[in-house]
Amino acid sequence: MTPITWPVRRDPHHMPQWRRDPCPVLLGDRIVRFRDPRDAHLPLPPFPAYAQPPRDLGPAPRGSMVEPRFARVGGRQTLLVPIRRGTSLYGTGEQPGPLRRNGTRRLIRTTDSVEYDEGVPALYQAHPWVLAVRDDGSAFGVIVETTYPCEVDLTRHIVFRFDPRMTGVPMPAATVIERDSPMAVLEALADLTGRMPLPPKWSLGFQQSRWSYEPASRVLDVCRTFRQRWLPCDVVWLDIDYMDGFRIFTFDPSKFADPAGLNRDLHAIGFRTVWMIDPGIKAEPGYRVYDAGAAGDHFVKDRAGAEYHGRVWPGACAFPDYTRASARAWWSALYTDFLSHGVDGVWNDMNEPAVFDQVWKMMPHDNQHEADADLGGPGDHLRYRNIYGMLMVRATREGIVAARPERRPFVLTRSNFLGGHRYAATWTGDNAASYTHMAWSISMILNLGLSGQPFCGPDIGGFIGETSPELFARWMGIGTLLPFARSHKVKGSLPHEPWTRGNECEHVSRLALERRYRLMPYLYTLFHESSLTGWPVARPLFFADPRDQRLRDAGDSFLLGDALLVRCELPERDGRGAAHRSPMPAGVWKRLEPTRETHRWLPELYLRGGSLVPAGPIMQHVDQHPTDPLTLYCALDADGSAVGRLYEDAGDGFAFQRGEFRLTTFLVHRSNGRLKVEETEAEGSLAAPRRTIEIVEL
Ligand code: NOJ
Repeated sequence: MTPITWPVRRDPHHMPQWRRDPCPVLLGDRIVRFRDPRDAHLPLPPFPAYAQPPRDLGPAPRGSMVEPRFARVGGRQTLLVPIRRGTSLYGTGEQPGPLRRNGTRRLIRTTDSVEYDEGVPALYQAHPWVLAVRDDGSAFGVIVETTYPCEVDLTRHIVFRFDPRMTGVPMPAATVIERDSPMAVLEALADLTGRMPLPPKWSLGFQQSRWSYEPASRVLDVCRTFRQRWLPCDVVWLDIDYMDGFRIFTFDPSKFADPAGLNRDLHAIGFRTVWMIDPGIKAEPGYRVYDAGAAGDHFVKDRAGAEYHGRVWPGACAFPDYTRASARAWWSALYTDFLSHGVDGVWNDMNEPAVFDQVWKMMPHDNQHEADADLGGPGDHLRYRNIYGMLMVRATREGIVAARPERRPFVLTRSNFLGGHRYAATWTGDNAASYTHMAWSISMILNLGLSGQPFCGPDIGGFIGETSPELFARWMGIGTLLPFARSHKVKGSLPHEPWTRGNECEHVSRLALERRYRLMPYLYTLFHESSLTGWPVARPLFFADPRDQRLRDAGDSFLLGDALLVRCELPERDGRGAAHRSPMPAGVWKRLEPTRETHRWLPELYLRGGSLVPAGPIMQHVDQHPTDPLTLYCALDADGSAVGRLYEDAGDGFAFQRGEFRLTTFLVHRSNGRLKVEETEAEGSLAAPRRTIEIVEL
């Protein structure tokens, strides 16, 4: 397919008139909103990426800030943020390709791009956001306040070009966050866009998926085999074929006659279940969901005002108009009955939204949304497309919370928008079984984290195509160390459970899974930290030293929190991929192996000098045993000490918000030749559990 980018008409006689905002507005400490002075008299449209509309704190002090400039170039509204040499660019959401985004040009537009590569202009999620790290390690971020599609061009500077069809719309504002480090920029971004709510602990476990495990007996077989073969796993996924003729909120009467019974049987062996719900509702009079949606006038309209229909799995479908609170409330309420079958989590797919019988699978841009005033009022699909998926998962999450207020919701979405981490985790869509895609699963997850989305992961093993045992095992090694760890595969492909690819692949997969489960106390602590700070769980290597230019491109390694470094080998097998190994950050890094043995296909783990990470015993699912013994892996600093934290709570529910948690700071130090552990600080009302603590010095 030919990539779509909008042509820029260059007129040699016409020099663009770049304008600066003469009176930018302060939104917070070194957070400033800039507007095109020609449009400054027009009201700003609401920007739903923000958790709350930011307050205008008056005129911003001039001088030190990055200053965006605005112009109309070749008939296109354009925004330019000049960068100086040595500045590295990141973020821009979900993008295939290398970690550092300098030199790239992409569309910010939600698009169903199956088996994507760098040639497709856009993927499923939309983040109008760039993070810039200067040569001195200081950083700034640019939020472009628009829901319309736009182009982000980082070939030389930071340039945003807006859709020429945005007629009569003011030039979007740009909000710049200026900080001393990239980490501090992300914290400020989270002040504006909100933080990821702490997910249930089981959703940090390993997850097994396929399009589709069917019938119900097959789902049970797969899960029982995980248990029989001692392969830790927490979740099994139910793709579209559980439905009755792809009608959402229904169950196939023969293949899934008793979903509650299936969920009960799976719960009994320690599995949770996540079931798919798409936005396309079969346009079939007599089908209760369609009838209710039509009666409530909840669907997107075509430009003539008639209910819009487009083809997805069940044939002609209507699409809820999530831009209206009334439609969202109706959608939310549908989950009460659905969850009553014992469903644990929800997977919202195809919500770019994807429509098969349209170019680029996009519904016509002049379709109509009856949006509420707080989103900007009625408007066309061009305006609301990028936030369709985010509004869908907002309604899904609200429905789950309303139906089951005592449990933490878990929602996975394919499409999302800047700020959408408030509602759902994301995955990187229909990737392919190749070494290149395995490499991208690191760079893409890191850039999503640098765009405010901490809870994300790839389809481990690659969705499209067959996966060799070595590729599968290597990908398990990497994927089980990323925040969201799920293996998933396309229909019609060979089985892809870890035991189906030979003994070596199964053995390496087991080691990879055991590593994740051993490190679960640390991982959960990082998720808790992220839910308070907005810091990514998986971080690029340069976070260890933002001034070290050698680390800026490192796409084969990443940090988990600030203590653990994951160093992967990405063999060059598809003629691409990183053959060279990135350098290590300066300082002491000690090799760590939390399982009894390792394997050459698994990434190497290193612990930063002066740190400790808490680890638990191997479990087959996260709540199988208490964390006893608690192992503290320590890399002592020059003074012979190491510090680290452990967060613990019930793993689900909201009692932690009432103080029922324990956040312990451990200090291990050498004294008289012996290692001693002290709990230097503890927060929360949970008592310290009685358990054995073992210290392992690296
Ligand atoms: C597209 C999704 O990206 C994929 O993960 C899923 O298996 C299929 N839809 C079928 O539901």
